[in-house]
Amino acid sequence: MLDERNFSKYLSNHEIEVLVQSLAERINKDYKGKNLLLVAVLKGTIIFAADLIRKLEMDPEIEFVRMTSYGKKSRASSGTVAFLKDIQSDLRGKHVLIVEEIIDSGRSLEFLYERLKKAEPESVEVCTLLDKSKKRVVTDVPVKYVGRVVDDPFLVGYGLDLEEKFRNLKDIHYLKYPN
Ligand code: IMP
Ligand code: MG
Repeated sequence: MLDERNFSKYLSNHEIEVLVQSLAERINKDYKGKNLLLVAVLKGTIIFAADLIRKLEMDPEIEFVRMTSYGKKSRASSGTVAFLKDIQSDLRGKHVLIVEEIIDSGRSLEFLYERLKKAEPESVEVCTLLDKSKKRVVTDVPVKYVGRVVDDPFLVGYGLDLEEKFRNLKDIHYLKYPN
């Protein structure tokens, strides 16, 4: 169970739903009639991707990738990124939309973005529910669809984990005492 002395509610399930709806509306408008492939980043994106895809009006394909940053501590991302699961499908003729639940340094995003670009899709864009834009180290990947810019609290719930737990919480909570 989440200890309420350490965590406070940050975004309610209803607030999240409003953000997801507005992202879906933009995507529906921009990708109408296009061949859309969502590339969702495991594991954190599972809940967001599941909600988003059900609000899309075209017939998108969905693929999952999983990356790791070696030496990653539970609350901070660092270092080199590698694929634990890459995608198999041919991207030519497809419009690719990377789906992330949160972007922090942007290192894993850059790694994925460069990999996807090399596969010569029609386009590659990025959609994230949350953006810790002030924490960005890698700034050359454009993030077109952002649900909400957040400062730097450590967040859990709605797919976001603390040491692999709490992904199942419906609301997003922040850690009050990070250290
Ligand atoms: P980046 O490569 O530094 O942008 O790492 C982004 C990844 O770190 C996200 O996809 C999340 O998996 C994880 N992450 C970043 N901030 C948080 C957070 O506040 N809570 C849980 N996971 C986070
Ligand atoms: Mg993630």
